[in-house]
Amino acid sequence: MTTVIDGKQVAASVIDAVKTASQALTEQTGVKTGLAVVIVGNDPASHAYVSSKSKMAKECGFTSVQHTLPEETTQAELAALVQTLNKDESLHGILVQLPLPKHFNSEAIIQSILPEKDVDGLHVVNAGKLATGDLDGGLVSCTPAGAMVFVKRTHGEDLSGLNAVVIGRSNLFGKPMAQLLLAANATVTVAHSRTKDLASVCRSADILVAAVGRPEMVKADWVKPGATVIDVGINRIAAPEKGEGKSRLVGDVAFDECAKVAAVITPVPGGVGPMTIAMLMANTVIAAYRKAGKAAPKF
Ligand SMILES: NC(=O)c1ccc[n+]([C@@H]2O[C@H](COP(=O)([O-])OP(=O)(O)OC[C@H]3O[C@@H](n4cnc5c(N)ncnc54)[C@H](OP(=O)(O)O)[C@@H]3O)[C@@H](O)[C@H]2O)c1
Repeated sequence: MTTVIDGKQVAASVIDAVKTASQALTEQTGVKTGLAVVIVGNDPASHAYVSSKSKMAKECGFTSVQHTLPEETTQAELAALVQTLNKDESLHGILVQLPLPKHFNSEAIIQSILPEKDVDGLHVVNAGKLATGDLDGGLVSCTPAGAMVFVKRTHGEDLSGLNAVVIGRSNLFGKPMAQLLLAANATVTVAHSRTKDLASVCRSADILVAAVGRPEMVKADWVKPGATVIDVGINRIAAPEKGEGKSRLVGDVAFDECAKVAAVITPVPGGVGPMTIAMLMANTVIAAYRKAGKAAPKF
């Protein structure tokens, strides 16, 4: 019997734990967790993401601040806002929604966020802490942190003896995911577009994580029987069966056929997706605990 992970349910359990932690911090120290979300320009998808992040922060009992800046904002103006937010003692997390409009040097903006407020986990200090195995000192990129919650709830904290394959080597997902699996003692292979015989590499995986951006690339015969398959891909494809011009979301894994081989699998949508925002809230409350000199909760 294959287990299909319900990402919405797991995300809700993380959010519940965040609410409890944030309330406990306020009771113990008087500190209210604060998150600032910054969006520049008019991209409708980014606006939808940002409003759900701001709304979720409020639901978690945080101070939630949103800065909506026009498309023509300059690099200097955005950099100045980040400096103001860095100095604001009531804010523990700063998120600058990506992608920024094309005229920005996004990397310079991200690297100007104080590492201890970088709740997206994209600052080189946070990437470096993860790479050196300092999981309790830094902040981990939200989507891999969320995927890792699934892995740990399936296999426990210690992945000794298990082979993990991550397809994709992006800084946003593939590399941090590989580091998290390694820190949990898995034997990790990172595959990418230059990997030879990807199917056979994947077949060695007890834990297979796909983060490529290619619809339904992973087929049933790539999956080791009984494996855990985590699908990170989000791809919109045409769905003429739903009507002319309609589309639907699929992952990087051919779900129906792979579900017959895997023991545990995540769907798209409703798998890893909902975890990203939950882990953003988790990172923010972790940052608030650290700033208050308290041991941060684990999620
Ligand atoms: N909240 C969420 O759920 C969430 C968050 C982040 C990302 N995603 C989704 O996850 C997917 C990956 O995101 P990303 O930001 O990591 O993408 P990315 O930066 O484009 O990286 C894609 C990776 O896939 C590899 N790749 C491309 N074609 C391949 C092939 N034919 N065989 C093997 N590897 C191949 C690339 O290899 P090279 O390095 O060799 O080019 C690259 O490392 C996307 O669909 C994205 O939408 C979802």
